[in-house]
Amino acid sequence: MEKKLQNQVAIVTGASSGIGAGVAKSLAEAGATVIVNYPFEGAKDAAEAVIAAIVAGGGKAVSCQCDVSKEADVQQMFASTVAQFGTVDILVNNAGIQKDARFEEMTLDQWNLVLGINLTGFFLCAREAVREFLRRGIDSTKSKAAGKIICMSSVHEVIPWAGHANYAASKGGIMLLMKTLSQEFAFKKIRINSICPGAIQTPINRSAWDTPEALSALLTLIPYKRIGQPEDIGNAAVWLASDDSDYVNGISLFVDGGMTLYPGFTTNG
Ligand code: BGC
Repeated sequence: MEKKLQNQVAIVTGASSGIGAGVAKSLAEAGATVIVNYPFEGAKDAAEAVIAAIVAGGGKAVSCQCDVSKEADVQQMFASTVAQFGTVDILVNNAGIQKDARFEEMTLDQWNLVLGINLTGFFLCAREAVREFLRRGIDSTKSKAAGKIICMSSVHEVIPWAGHANYAASKGGIMLLMKTLSQEFAFKKIRINSICPGAIQTPINRSAWDTPEALSALLTLIPYKRIGQPEDIGNAAVWLASDDSDYVNGISLFVDGGMTLYPGFTTNG
């Protein structure tokens, strides 16, 4: 049977670890050729490990180093992908970091670093993807859409998060960037949506799950009573990238075990 993303080329930013690695594997399983982006030399081995896992499963993937907050790096990543594979069909804007601090102690560097990767990085990658989608137009042998962008947002695009002002601001920004782009390019058959993960078990939130006490405190915030796994997000990404979601434009898809359901109100209020 033809796989859902057969012959499609997907760039996944920040794919050397965490959610990005999970999404890269899921897209490859669905038939896409995946560009596993990693941010700096030190993450190369981790990116190669993701590629090895994909290849072992019969998929196709290559690595690409690029700091998504740098315009020239991003343009180079897209140019080399097009030179190698002909086009880009799917962008997963996933690269994201946290630099947590109490607000009165937050440095400008902590602010700029998080906004630079989480929000400016999304702008730069989405702009190159849109340019390529507009150039190519629809290739109906592959998809009904001219291209798909999936933004990795967070439950914190709607849940305020004390001690994480830079991160929450970046995710709130992603929400309206995504919706605005979707409004601007839907008529060109470019589909742009977000996934909003809740607590997914990855290195970014290790302190929230690596002791029994931390995990049980975390589970009080999750009505479904389990921590999420990268494949929960990978499955959602495959759906948003495939024609199964062809009529879906500009949504924030919460994949969070119910974290946004105000669990504190279950027995209160
Ligand atoms: C953050 C995680 C956090 C989760 C739920 C994510 O966006 O990166 O650190 O566990 O939101 O609060």
